[in-house]
Amino acid sequence: MPEVQGPPQPSSPGVPGRLSSAGSCFWVAVLDGNVVGIVAARAHEEDNTLELLRMSVDSRFRGKGIAKALGRKVLEFAVVHNYSAVVLGTTAVKVAAHKLYESLGFRHMGASDHYVLPGMTLSLAERLFFQVRYHRYRLQLREE
Ligand SMILES: CC(C)(COP(=O)(O)OP(=O)(O)OC[C@H]1O[C@@H](n2cnc3c(N)ncnc32)[C@H](O)[C@@H]1OP(=O)(O)O)[C@@H](O)C(=O)NCCC(=O)NCCS
Repeated sequence: MPEVQGPPQPSSPGVPGRLSSAGSCFWVAVLDGNVVGIVAARAHEEDNTLELLRMSVDSRFRGKGIAKALGRKVLEFAVVHNYSAVVLGTTAVKVAAHKLYESLGFRHMGASDHYVLPGMTLSLAERLFFQVRYHRYRLQLREE
């Protein structure tokens, strides 16, 4: 089983880009010195939730519990930092992502067919032939 690693001080700034605010974090799963999986978390201070994002496991290492270990790390981080819930959105078509989040305890909160991916123009052709379903999940940790 790989080791899940985060930065030395998980709640401090230091991860570049959109995840550099306090309360956000990024973890990698490392096996034999190689990164085989990633996950990130971003804080939403306005409703005290933590968003799980960028979950991905190297296709050669799937089905071994790596995503579950990464997901648990995010949940652990949320509990330690007193977030009220962990939320996520996904456009994943394959069943694996949905099963993963359900197995971690997330509840499916609904789906929307009107999601616009970055770069989409919403032309007639796109609206007719390219619909993306966006699913929202939530794991409530405590009542606010
Ligand atoms: C989704 C993904 C992260 C799962 O990674 P993984 O390391 O293979 O998942 P795990 O081995 O930890 O499995 C965790 C749970 O997911 C489910 N699962 C994983 N692969 C599955 C598959 N092929 N079919 C059905 N369920 C699957 C199982 O419920 C499993 O729990 P269980 O072992 O208790 O039954 C991986 O397939 C992936 O990177 N996919 C492409 C990127 C992606 O879709 N990311 C999610 C975007 S929101």
